[in-house]
Amino acid sequence: MDVQPLGPAAQDFLDVMAEVCTPVTVVTTIDDGVPHGTTVSAFTSLSLRPPMIAVALDLTSDLLVKIRRTRRFGVNVLGVSQDRLAVQFAGKGSDKFAGVAWSPDEGLPRLVDAIGWLSCRAESFLDGGDHVLIPGRVESAVALPAAPLAYHRRVFGTHSGFLGSTA
Ligand SMILES: Cc1cc2nc3c(=O)[nH]c(=O)nc-3n(C[C@H](O)[C@H](O)[C@H](O)COP(=O)(O)O)c2cc1C
Repeated sequence: MDVQPLGPAAQDFLDVMAEVCTPVTVVTTIDDGVPHGTTVSAFTSLSLRPPMIAVALDLTSDLLVKIRRTRRFGVNVLGVSQDRLAVQFAGKGSDKFAGVAWSPDEGLPRLVDAIGWLSCRAESFLDGGDHVLIPGRVESAVALPAAPLAYHRRVFGTHSGFLGSTA
């Protein structure tokens, strides 16, 4: 695949998106008995009836190849103390689960201490430029409320309510 240089508009686009605070998730699947996972911030809620979410994966993602095969994936929403996991799963290779505490849930890799867990069926694979958008039908969901890991200006942090907020 030819990699085109970024034009000025694309750099402005990146600068705007860096201002957008995003969640940090590790999206996982098990292909041929082997777990694989990738750090993903392009994760959003999509529909309530039926419950659906969407993730976007780069065309070069190994996880994308595996999800095209398995048609199922898990979303682990990371908590504030899991930035090390976010870095580990942002790497390449087949050993990203080394030293990671996880267990299978509905046949998908669920990370211990993730603050949210969704097991999903991939509904389709939609062209999104250099990414592929995957709408996922949510089959099960578990929330373990705690402070979230967030990503803003290429730095990990968290969210907290305004002083005095009761939320
Ligand atoms: C905070 C953060 C967010 C990321 N979000 C995405 C994303 O939404 N989609 C994506 O394809 N890659 C994303 N990445 C990059 C992938 O994690 C990285 O390219 C990874 O090596 C891909 O692994 P794979 O080829 O095993 O799938 C993100 C990386 C970081 C650090």
